[in-house]
Amino acid sequence: MKKTVRDVDVHGKRVFLRCDFNVPLDENGEITDDRRIKSALPTIKYLMEHDARIIVASHLGRPKGVADMKYSLAPAANRLSELLGTEVIFISEPSVVGPAVKDAVEALEPGSVMMIENVRFRPEETKNDPSFSAELASLADIFVNDAFGTAHRAHCSTAGIADFLPAVSGFLLEKEIKFFGGLLDNPAKPFTAVLGGSKVADKIPLIENLLDKVDTILIGGGMAYTFLKAQGYEIGTSLLDEDSVQLSLDIMKKAEECDVRMMLPADVICAKEFKNDSPAVSVDINSIPADMMGLDIGAKTQEMYRNVIMDSATVVWNGPAGVFEMDNFAGGTRAIAQAMNDTKAVTVIGGGDSAAAVRKFGLEDGISHISTGGGASLEFLEGKKLPGVECLEDK
Ligand code: 3PG
Repeated sequence: MKKTVRDVDVHGKRVFLRCDFNVPLDENGEITDDRRIKSALPTIKYLMEHDARIIVASHLGRPKGVADMKYSLAPAANRLSELLGTEVIFISEPSVVGPAVKDAVEALEPGSVMMIENVRFRPEETKNDPSFSAELASLADIFVNDAFGTAHRAHCSTAGIADFLPAVSGFLLEKEIKFFGGLLDNPAKPFTAVLGGSKVADKIPLIENLLDKVDTILIGGGMAYTFLKAQGYEIGTSLLDEDSVQLSLDIMKKAEECDVRMMLPADVICAKEFKNDSPAVSVDINSIPADMMGLDIGAKTQEMYRNVIMDSATVVWNGPAGVFEMDNFAGGTRAIAQAMNDTKAVTVIGGGDSAAAVRKFGLEDGISHISTGGGASLEFLEGKKLPGVECLEDK
């Protein structure tokens, strides 16, 4: 168990709070999804109520170590201020930690919030260079990491800074670890993993780590066709990860040895072109036309998968079941999202595409936990240690 903000005295202390405000912006620089900012509010409010002097830091995009103002955190600072209903002092310096930031920290009142510029404006950040970690640490008395979405990166502001300051987690990080840790350590059974996405190879470490924990794996998305091909089905022009055909056979063999039921689509929705308006047909899995590609799971599969999800006690979902961005091929992903909503199971969604799908369908409310971290949640489920978590003090 890692220490949290509750375990340290933050009164009057300068707290360096690392958040993940890597939010999507439109062409006008407007934030199109502020969920990551909203998710940090409990920690920020707690620190404000406990009279901490809060210095918020984050990255945005990948500016590659230069102060490219396209990646400025100004929009995130404005949004944070709106959400808190109070001023957030934003100091934008190309060097991130310059004289203006130091002055602002000196003048920061207990219970107030300031924000510094995108830490990736400095080339040292992603190299986890101790000199920049020390510079960041010099601003504060305590490091609080609430950036779960970036916890898989060993960077100065996510991990290196912990070499110089007492380091604890915020409430968001704590919650993410609770849900993902629960899946790996002691999941209520039956435990089902719903996996999609395009490349089999990308999901191998995940499947391998889950094999001794889950009862059933439901396969959907583009990667299903590689599994189907390996089983001898004709898949027409569907996505094929040629290099992974043998890999998928090996995985299915391992699953059998581990007594894990691996389910593949029984029917699919096909079209000639990868376009929403390409006429779609629903076909049985052994009759995919040679000139068509599978773009979604069919109605029979949706029902099959729904039944498994409804009968589960724990479900984790990573990767959409079809091309949900196109309305005509979104039915399978929507059906999974609906089942995740309707089941009484503990339901956890890794960030990224599956989280975006659930939001698109407005089906977030019935899900136990939707992660704020795509890459981070995947690495956690793969059984990897996350540097942004490992660096924190144990209880
Ligand atoms: C994310 O959006 O997954 C995190 O903010 C990490 O971003 P990165 O992949 O650029 O490190």
